[in-house]
This record gives sequence, structure tokens and C-alpha cells, in this order.
Amino acid sequence: MTEIAGKVAVVTGAARGIGAAVAKRLAGLGATVLLVARDKTKLAEVEEQIRAAGGKAIATAVDLTDADAVSAFTKSVVDRFGRCDILVNNAGIATIGTLLHDTSPEVWNALMDTNLRAPYLMIRGLAPLMIEARSGQIINISSLAGRNPVKGAAAYSASKWGLNGLTYSVAEELREYGIRVSVIAPGSVNSGFSSLGTNEAEGGWKIQPDDIAEAVAMLVTQSPTSFISEVLLRPAQRKP
Ligand SMILES: NC(=O)c1ccc[n+]([C@@H]2O[C@H](COP(=O)([O-])OP(=O)(O)OC[C@H]3O[C@@H](n4cnc5c(N)ncnc54)[C@H](OP(=O)(O)O)[C@@H]3O)[C@@H](O)[C@H]2O)c1
Repeated sequence: MTEIAGKVAVVTGAARGIGAAVAKRLAGLGATVLLVARDKTKLAEVEEQIRAAGGKAIATAVDLTDADAVSAFTKSVVDRFGRCDILVNNAGIATIGTLLHDTSPEVWNALMDTNLRAPYLMIRGLAPLMIEARSGQIINISSLAGRNPVKGAAAYSASKWGLNGLTYSVAEELREYGIRVSVIAPGSVNSGFSSLGTNEAEGGWKIQPDDIAEAVAMLVTQSPTSFISEVLLRPAQRKP
């Protein structure tokens, strides 16, 4: 098992849901976790929870749809830490129940900018640090909607199919530098995916955010001679 104590991990969308669970797990394994999302209050809560549990976390409010803001953040990682060992591109939004021809260009752009362009911008800013170190791990949180057709969610689905393609291709680009790039594609997660308006109280049958954190922990502690390129996660139970 590879140790991650002392490593620096960036987790986007860490203010709640899956990202918060992943950040807590990585901090529990000893990484210094840099938490990214927009909501300062929620970020501060997660940061405090990690610190109270004895972990190291630093929250930064960044709108990932703003390329300049992402550049400023990645530059701050370079200047302050000079390393980034783990990048988890988790932040995402969705719209479900709108047919593509009823989807406005603004909604389309928001989905693509958050789910697809933001991972590219983060990789653009942080991959050079990993290349310099000749090691690193990038994990993109996609969705089974990125492998299946989803009626009423064509734009969301397209953003996640795109994220899968980006992941497989970047994995090949960065492999020669010892950088491992993987995708985790979950089915329904009990996260209260806010943009979908799901109800956490009714989600006991779903995958739990900690299950995704478990998968991330598995990937980042895997022996360095190989990597799991793709994890498909399904709920153990069917929807009641
Ligand atoms: N929940 C599911 O059923 C499910 C299933 C498969 C895949 N996924 C994927 O899992 C990931 C996390 O989903 P979740 O269920 O944990 O959702 P969530 O509870 O709604 O959390 C989304 C996170 O992304 C952040 N975020 C959204 N837009 C952002 C932006 N422009 N800039 C910075 N941060 C932004 C949010 O923080 P702020 O609002 O504070 O910015 C929040 O921390 C997403 O990529 C989603 O597509 C979810």
C-alpha cells in the first residue's frame, strides 16, 4: 500500500456531498487537503471538521467556471506548496428533466464549464507540478450518465461522456511521467446533489458519499506499479 501522509491533495467541490467525504478521507490518511468550492461558509465547516479530527485542510473559495480564478488558485498551490500529489476533480452540476431542445445555451455552458472545462483548467494548472515531480494522481468524478443514455439529461450526460474521453486521453499523455489518471463513475449517490434537488433522507438505498471516498482511497494507496483506470460504482440495492 502506498502511503499518502504528507502529500498535498486538491479536492474540488469539497463544500458538501461527495467532495466533502473524499476530502475527509484523504485528510484521515494524512494528506494536506486543499478544499475548493464557491460557498465560503460550507467550505469553512468542512475545513473545521477535518481540523477537529486532527487532519490538515485549507479552504479556498474558487468559482471553477472562472478561468482566471482557477489560474490564481493553481498558482497559489505552486507558490505555497510547490507540489500537488493528488487532484480530485469532483465539482459538478446537473439538470435532469429538460429535453435537449429545451435547454438554454446558458444552462449548456454552465454544465460544460463546471463538469468538463474546470477539470481541464485544474489539470492545466497542476499537471506541470506533477510532471516535475515525475509522480501524481488525478481522479475525475464522472457518472454512469457518462456511459449510458439519460433521457432528459443529454447535456449533463454529454459533459460526463466528455470527461471520460478527457480522462482516458490525459491518462495516456501523462503516463510517461509516472502520473496516473483515473475516472470514478458512480450511479445514484445519496449526496443531496443540490442541482438535482434530491432528498438525502430518502436516499438510503443509494451509493453513499463515503463509498466514493473509499474508492478514491483505494486508488491513491494502490501500489505504484499499476493503476485502476476506471471504477464503475453501482448501488448494492435497487431503487425501492
Ligand atoms: N449525486 C449523484 O447522484 C451523483 C451521481 C454520479 C456522479 N455524481 C458526480 O459527483 C460529483 C459531486 O456531486 P455531489 O453529489 O457531491 O454534488 P453536490 O452535493 O451538489 O456538491 C457539488 C459540489 O460542487 C461544487 N461546485 C459546483 N459548482 C461549482 C463551481 N462553479 N465552482 C466551484 N465549485 C462548484 C459545490 O460547491 P459550491 O456550490 O459551494 O460551489 C459542491 O461542493 C459531481 O461531479 C456529480 O456529477 C453525482
